[in-house]
Amino acid sequence: MSIGIDLISFYTPAFFFSLDDLAKQRVVEAKKYTVGIGQKEMSILPPDEDVVTMGANAAYSLLEKVDKSRIKALIFATESSVDQSKSAGLFIHKLLDLPRHCRVIEMKQACYSGTFSLRAAMGLVSLDQESQALVITADVARYELHSAGEATQGCGAVALLVSSQPRLLQIDSESAYISEDVMDFWRPNYRSTAIVDGKYSTRVYLQALNECWQKYAELSKRLPENIHHFCFHLPFTRMAEKALKQLFRCKEDFQSRLRKMRPGLLYNETVGNSYTASLYLNLCSLLDFSEHNLAGQRIGLFSYGSGFVAEFFSGIIQNGYSQHLFNELHTRLLANRKRLSYAEYLEFYHYALPENGKTSHNPCFTQGRFRFAGVNAHKRLYEQTQHKMS
Ligand code: HMG
Repeated sequence: MSIGIDLISFYTPAFFFSLDDLAKQRVVEAKKYTVGIGQKEMSILPPDEDVVTMGANAAYSLLEKVDKSRIKALIFATESSVDQSKSAGLFIHKLLDLPRHCRVIEMKQACYSGTFSLRAAMGLVSLDQESQALVITADVARYELHSAGEATQGCGAVALLVSSQPRLLQIDSESAYISEDVMDFWRPNYRSTAIVDGKYSTRVYLQALNECWQKYAELSKRLPENIHHFCFHLPFTRMAEKALKQLFRCKEDFQSRLRKMRPGLLYNETVGNSYTASLYLNLCSLLDFSEHNLAGQRIGLFSYGSGFVAEFFSGIIQNGYSQHLFNELHTRLLANRKRLSYAEYLEFYHYALPENGKTSHNPCFTQGRFRFAGVNAHKRLYEQTQHKMS
């Protein structure tokens, strides 16, 4: 049965903070961030956006190209949710005018839940092959100011349409996954920033990759050489290099694989960590920027969510895939972002909603199609803007 990713599109807000500017403020050599961590910029969330608006904006252009009545599920993956009970997907369901006969659910397991959502969507589509499922991954990575994690912030959303006979990536049957209860990164309900044991989390990530790869290789009888391109969860872009080193012990193979990965890293190095969306941003960048025709090539994908759950799986790029990309829209989105000053970065960082549910109106900043307008009687209010997204 052929099931997988039919369309992919991403969104990130129209504001970024440069890692060079952060380095100046933190009195750190800029190369530590730009080379050591591999980040050039990080997208910053303005006051009138959240995971709902980012998710809706990511899916908006994609939905203009499909028959919405076939969408029977919206699965929303995030660890930056806006409510303890209601799925943020329901706000998106309304904003995008999705069919009434469509299930909506929210998933959580750190950065991994996007991958589980993809799996769940594939399961639903396999039961009714005429149907499609929309997976939306959206997150805001926030750490304490002046912490080591600060340079690895970011935000964004990726929307994936899952169907049978997919136009982009047909997912292989083999996949390897593991779970273990560790405290490498977490965010208690009372905090707006994550707590992380950074070096430990990086070690756990690499051990998980190693273990998942061994299991995947055993199941599929494939070697790293049989995988044409790798995509990884990228908490910071240099992680790609560390991950590839695990898989390719020979220095020359490693170097040539690193060069091959370049097109896949372009979005992540300017957006920063987008948690659930990060792996799929790597995939989107590879599809959008690869100079070669990728049709028929096998992509290996490694998903890691702290805490932790990890999975390695793969898929085959489909013939004609390049006719179904949103690369021009994505390029415009990034090219039109505004560089924030340090004072503006702090202003956005500290912006907070009243916690007593009192009526509040968010100032207008977004350039997206949907905005988070404010709160009234503890209810979040969303609205459409006049901005064109396609
Ligand atoms: P740090 O202590 O600031 O950095 O933490 P460092 O001192 O280790 O330096 C970083 C690298 O820059 C090092 O290279 C330095 O040598 C190099 P490495 O040893 O790694 O090869 N460096 C330089 N390079 C060139 N020129 C220079 C220079 N100076 C130093 N002048 C850390 C870095 C990533 C740990 C920190 O930013 C952090 O805690 N980030 C957040 C946690 C994180 O991203 N963890 C990753 C794995 S966990 C994960 O992926 C899950 C996650 O996405 C959450 C989820 O699942 O929901 C986070």
